[in-house]
Amino acid sequence: MSLPHLIHRPRRLRQTEALRRLVKETELTVNDLIYPLFVMEGENIQEEIPSMPQCYRYSLDLLLKELQDVVNLGLGAIALFPLISDEKKDNEGTESYNSYGLVQRTVRKIKQEFPQLIVITDVALDPYSPYGHDGIVKNGQILNDETVEILVKMALSHAEAGADLVAPSDMMDGRIGAIRRALDAQGWINVGILAYSAKYASAYYGPFRDALASAPKFGDKKTYQMDIANSREAIKEIALDIEEGADLLMIKPALAYLDIIRRVRDYTNLPVVAYNVSGEYAMIKAAGQRGWIDEKKVILETLTSMKRAGADLILTYFAKEVALILH
Ligand code: PBG
Repeated sequence: MSLPHLIHRPRRLRQTEALRRLVKETELTVNDLIYPLFVMEGENIQEEIPSMPQCYRYSLDLLLKELQDVVNLGLGAIALFPLISDEKKDNEGTESYNSYGLVQRTVRKIKQEFPQLIVITDVALDPYSPYGHDGIVKNGQILNDETVEILVKMALSHAEAGADLVAPSDMMDGRIGAIRRALDAQGWINVGILAYSAKYASAYYGPFRDALASAPKFGDKKTYQMDIANSREAIKEIALDIEEGADLLMIKPALAYLDIIRRVRDYTNLPVVAYNVSGEYAMIKAAGQRGWIDEKKVILETLTSMKRAGADLILTYFAKEVALILH
C-alpha cells in the first residue's frame, strides 16, 4: 500500500499536550468570571435553591463568609440578586431605592470587608414588584418611561452604597442613557454600567425565578425582552446602549445565543459579557447528578464555547466551581 503524500497534516499540532497548549486559541480563566449570588434578610441562613443545586440564598452574615472563600479562590467580581419579602413589594418598586434596603446594606458591608471585590448590582423592578414584571404595571401594560425614573433612583442608591457597576436587566428603552446622565450629575462618574443589552424572552430563566420568587404573575415578558428568533434586533439594542453610554454589553442567555455573542463581538470594541443563565446551569447539574455526563468537563467545554464565540467575560453560577477546577 503506497501512502499518500500529504502536505498538510493538521494532526501534527495535536500530537502532545505541550503542542496543544502552544496553539490553544481560547483560555478560560478566573479573571473573566463574575459570580452571581442571592441575598435575603435574616441571620444564619443558607438555603439551597431546589432547581439550582449548590446555589444558595444567603443572609448577609453567611454571604460574607462565602465571599471570603470566593476571594480566596481568586474570583474578582460578584453580581448580587436580592430576595425581597412580599410585604415590601409594590407596583412602583419603592423598596428598590431605599438607602437602607437589602441590596444597599449588603453592598455597603461587602465593600467595607472586601474593598477590592467588584460588586455588580441588578437594576430592575421584578424582585420588588408583586407582579414580577420588570416595570410598573398599568392596565396590564408595562410602562416604559415611568419605570426608567425608578431605575434611575435604584441605580443612584446602588452607587451611593458603593456598587462598582450597575447592571440594568429590565430592557426598558432609554434606561442606559438616563442612568448615565443621573450618575454623572450626582458625581458618580466612575460607576460603570453593565448593560443587559440583548436580553431575550427566554425559558431558561425558570430556576432563577424560583430562587427569587419573581416569576411574572400574569402574561410574559415579551413586550420588553427580545424575541428569541431575532438577531439583527440584538445589534439594534447594542448600538443604542453604546450610544447611551454602556461600559460593558451583555448577551443573555448565552448557550443558545452563541451566534449573537459572535455578532456583537464583531460589531463593537466594548467588552462583551455572556450570561450563562440559571436554566443552562440547571441542565448541566441535573445531567451531572444522574451521572449522564462528565459534569466538570461539560462545564469547562460550555464556558469555553462562550469565550470562543467572543465573550470576554462570563457571568456564571459555575464561577466558584471553575475556580476550584482551574486551581
Ligand atoms: C430580572 C432578571 C432575570 C434574570 C436576571 N435578572 C429574570 C428575568 O428576566 O425574568 C435571570 C438570570 C438567570 O436565569 O440566571 N430582571
